[in-house]
Amino acid sequence: TKTLTILGLESSCDDTAAAIVRQASGAPAQILSSVVLGQTALHSPFGGVVPEIAARAHAEKLDICVRQALTEAQMTLSDIDAIAVTAGPGLIGGVLSGVMCAKGIAAGTGKPLIGVNHLAGHALTPRLTDQTAYPYLMLLVSGGHCQFLIVRGPEDFTRLGGTIDDAPGEAFDKTARLLGLPQPGGPAVQAEALNGNPKRFAFPRPLLDRPGCDMSFSGLKTALLRTRDQVIAEKGGLTPQDRADMCAGFQAAVADVLAEKTRRALALYLFEHPATPTIAVAGGVAANTAIRAMLESVCAENSVTFTAPPLALCTDNAAMIAYAGLERFRAGGQDDMTLAARPRWPL
Ligand code: KG4
Ligand code: ZN
Repeated sequence: TKTLTILGLESSCDDTAAAIVRQASGAPAQILSSVVLGQTALHSPFGGVVPEIAARAHAEKLDICVRQALTEAQMTLSDIDAIAVTAGPGLIGGVLSGVMCAKGIAAGTGKPLIGVNHLAGHALTPRLTDQTAYPYLMLLVSGGHCQFLIVRGPEDFTRLGGTIDDAPGEAFDKTARLLGLPQPGGPAVQAEALNGNPKRFAFPRPLLDRPGCDMSFSGLKTALLRTRDQVIAEKGGLTPQDRADMCAGFQAAVADVLAEKTRRALALYLFEHPATPTIAVAGGVAANTAIRAMLESVCAENSVTFTAPPLALCTDNAAMIAYAGLERFRAGGQDDMTLAARPRWPL
């Protein structure tokens, strides 16, 4: 029943984050603080995340984040049991900044260092927020990732399938760019889609004709580009209604693909784990209300429990890293100063 207090660091993409999570074994975890400093403004002139700029900003902001997380939790480093850090996968400059910062703190305090897989952080979030019991099926949908995982333990995952090209968030972002909408594209496209007719333009449902849980989203943005250029060629420009209809059609296509592939992943999962019919979702795209509603109805039609963490914990944050580190540490896992930053690190 040892209570553990873990400092977590996250810097694998364009959010610099630090958080402190505490848990007595068997009890719900508590987020004592969770600080996220986004970099959207730094990258927006370039229309996408610039790795070099991201790395520099992480290096400049990580210590500020850590200090703020400690202050908000009314703690000092001496109150921390271990330091967890995202060691990959992600943009290597950012991951390196985080790992070096964590090693510095570990060296200075003599506390244990725990490398965490960013995807494991997302995948364990339902345990942080809802104490979801193992095993469960996870749909991870973000700007960089899209996969179905059976989550059996803090380091025990089975991948059932995933995207073979773009992640859905990336497709939302590219769609927004093609239609002149602001970044990040997901919320902008969702807002436009509210006023649109999803049936006006026919968008493909890639890979539904093939068995299995793999998905593809890059063809959707090509279809959108073609549709956009066709409308512009016919009418000389896009009206707000054209834009809304394209967003609605695109979003419906993504939701349909995710729904059908979720049905298939669920069938595979339930075959092995009929006693724990639970599906959880995480990642930035889980914020999409149409996609959430679709997942809820797939779960309802199969009598499966649906769990979605609150929005702030669906997108990148350090509380999920602290929590995944906490579970790993409780199970006896830790690293030493040879911990490497990994650009690729499949679960
Ligand atoms: O998990 P996340 O913060 O970062 C990683 O990719 O790891 O996810 C960010 C992605 C972006 O691509 C963003 O456009 C997308 O999530 N997103 C959304 C929505 N809100 C954020 N996509 C669709 N609908 C939304 N409401
Ligand atoms: Zn992420």
